[in-house]
Amino acid sequence: MNAIQEKYAKEVKGILGKYPHDQQRSAVMPLLYIAQREDGYVTRQDMGDIAEILGISSTDVASIVGFYTLYHDQQAGKYRIQVCNDLPCALRGADQYLDQLCENLGIHVGETTEDGVVTVEAVMCLAACDKAPMFQVQSNTEIVYHEDQTVESTMKLVGKWRTEEAKK
Ligand code: FES
Repeated sequence: MNAIQEKYAKEVKGILGKYPHDQQRSAVMPLLYIAQREDGYVTRQDMGDIAEILGISSTDVASIVGFYTLYHDQQAGKYRIQVCNDLPCALRGADQYLDQLCENLGIHVGETTEDGVVTVEAVMCLAACDKAPMFQVQSNTEIVYHEDQTVESTMKLVGKWRTEEAKK
């Protein structure tokens, strides 16, 4: 049984219809988007299902997930803070910001806070090098950049998210 094919049959058909018959493998990105939409990450099973739909290997699909920072193969907190600490951002203090932010949250890079609200990750260039320290937060519908950050401004934002989550 191919769960992606069954659950999203109409969407999958629509996506595949946009690509020439001999280039169906190019549909891997939108199919990954569908797979990730519900839970915020793509499972091994999802990757296998997508590979089967496109006639490629699971390794091909996994390599796409591994390459792009907007695809994830692990469950994370409700908000995934992806801090750029690539060289230009590092020169503007991104590493210190990242360390201090994690210290304030009581986690290490790559970990999730105990309340499950925030995960912090380090990523490569997000094309906002002159606005470091900066991070992106991805939801199902949008990607929001938070630029010129301080640990204080980010913790304030985290406090707001925690309040919102507590109300749910
Ligand atoms: S190096 Fe960080 S956004 Fe470009």
